[in-house]
Order: sequence, then C-alpha cells, then structure tokens
Amino acid sequence: MSADTQRPRVMADEELPNVLRERLSADVELVPWNPHPGAAERDVSGIFTFGHPIVDDTMLAGLPALKVVSNHGVGVDHIDVEAAERRGILVGNTPGVLDGAVADLAFALLLAAARRLPESAAVARNPATVAFDQMQLHGQEVHGSTLGIVGLGRIGAGIARRARGFDMQVLYHNRRPQADVASAIGAEYVSLEALLRSADFVILCVPLSESTRRLIGAKQLGWMKPSAVLINVARGPVVDTDALVTALNAGQLWAAALDVTDPEPLPRNHPLLSMPNVLVTSHIGSASLQTRQRMADMAVENLLRGLELRK
Ligand code: DGY
Repeated sequence: MSADTQRPRVMADEELPNVLRERLSADVELVPWNPHPGAAERDVSGIFTFGHPIVDDTMLAGLPALKVVSNHGVGVDHIDVEAAERRGILVGNTPGVLDGAVADLAFALLLAAARRLPESAAVARNPATVAFDQMQLHGQEVHGSTLGIVGLGRIGAGIARRARGFDMQVLYHNRRPQADVASAIGAEYVSLEALLRSADFVILCVPLSESTRRLIGAKQLGWMKPSAVLINVARGPVVDTDALVTALNAGQLWAAALDVTDPEPLPRNHPLLSMPNVLVTSHIGSASLQTRQRMADMAVENLLRGLELRK
C-alpha cells in the first residue's frame, strides 16, 4: 500500500485502455509497467495484464509483495504460471466468457477462406469489374464436409456444435479423448495424423504450451489434403510459420485463415500477407463488444478478489 492512498498498488501494461484505467483507479493505484521492478515497485501487490506483456519468474522475483496477476484474456502463455504458483501468487484469467465469440470467429474464418470472401470482395470493388463471371473464384464446399478440431475444450466444442448446422462430420484430436463432451456433440476422436489426413477443414484451438508449440510443422502440413483449409484461432506459435509458407507455395494445402500468427503482427512484407489464399485477421477472436465487456468485468473482479483473498 502507498502511504498516501492506502489503496493496493497494481502494475498494468501500457496497452490498458483508458476506460479500464479509470475503472480500476476507483479501487487501486495504478503504477507504470516495469519488467525489471526495483525499489519503486516493492509494495506492488497486483499485476493487471492486457496486451500480453511477458510476466516471467525474474519479474515476479522483483515484486515481493505481489499477491495476484489478473489477465484480461483466457490465454496465459505470456505468464509464467508455474513460477507464480510456486511463489503463492494467484493467477486469474477469463475462461468461459469468450468461448462463443471465438467459436463464431473460427467459423467466420472457415467460411471466408472456403468461399474466398476477401478475394470476392476485392473483385466486387474493383473498378475494372463490369460483368458477372460464373467462372470466377470457385471455392470449397463447406456443408457436408469433414471438420477436424485440434483441441476440444470449450471453444472447440462450440465450433463442433456450429459445424452440426452445416451437416459436417466432426473429428477431433486432444491430448486425452473427451468422451462425454464428444458424444454429446457427435465428434469422433482420432489421432492427429488421421485428422490431418482426412479433414477438409482443420481448426486449431489448443492453448500454447511446450507440447503444442509448432504442433503443426512441415511433417503435419504434409499430411493435409491439397484441398484442405487450415484455420488458427489458438496462438501463432502452434504453427511453424516458415513451414506453412513452404506448404502453401507447394500446394500441399488449399488455403489458410489465421487470426493469430508467429510473429504477431507479421512483418509488413511477410509472404503470408500477399498470398491470395491466405486470410490473416488481427487477433480478433474474442473482440465482440459484448464479450470484451464480460472479459473486462471478470478480469477486474479477479484482481479485486485476489487482492481481498490475500489481504
Ligand atoms: C485471449 O483471451 O487469450 C485472447 O487472446 C485475448 O487476450
């Protein structure tokens, strides 16, 4: 606590928007982000992460009064959760409230890539377009196709439920089969290789960890059908970016739709950004007005509860 305010001191990263700064300031004193904390941060008892800043063990070690890290988002791959647990620091995130929005976006990417919406939108706007052309932009059919979901958590299950409305056969792969969830939504467990070999659409929704980093590399891309579409709504490093560029250039898969990339954002001259069969969005999986509001509510509550619990 600082002597003047008696409010808990909380470090927040620079990305934190004003609306959340103002909201948090009602209960805590916000202090500027410092990845190498020193004397000025010795009494900081909370961290609020918004723009995925790295919170590693060294940073935690420099914050002896730290009680809670609250992350605005579900993915906590930028936080060393194990180190925090070892130090008795609570880590909060926002699971559940964003599942529907991310599942919606995954399906939007699937449909857009399959039916070549960005290319068609460009044709529609092009001043040179003067006639309807039946031979243009033939895409891949979605209804009745096979969807492979890598990571059948809450988001994956939401995607599977949406797929049923498109009469898709749903395969999934997970570290462990999710028999109950899968049978309720009609998804069949297969190995990663079988999934990649038979799916028309592959959606990645695993959390990023050491076991999922570069899960999809040259070998796995080589298993995909030349007509298949890869969709990533997980984290960029789940896919080996260079291997993806090579596979797309070689026609090993038909298209890719990526809401997340490695690095993120991609360098402005990156080959993926100029491939007509690659749709890249700017990490907007959970970016609906309603979901962002729920995430903010949950992240603020996690912070305040954590501070209260460890008082
Ligand atoms: C998440 O929830 O992890 C999104 O990437 C936004 O942070």
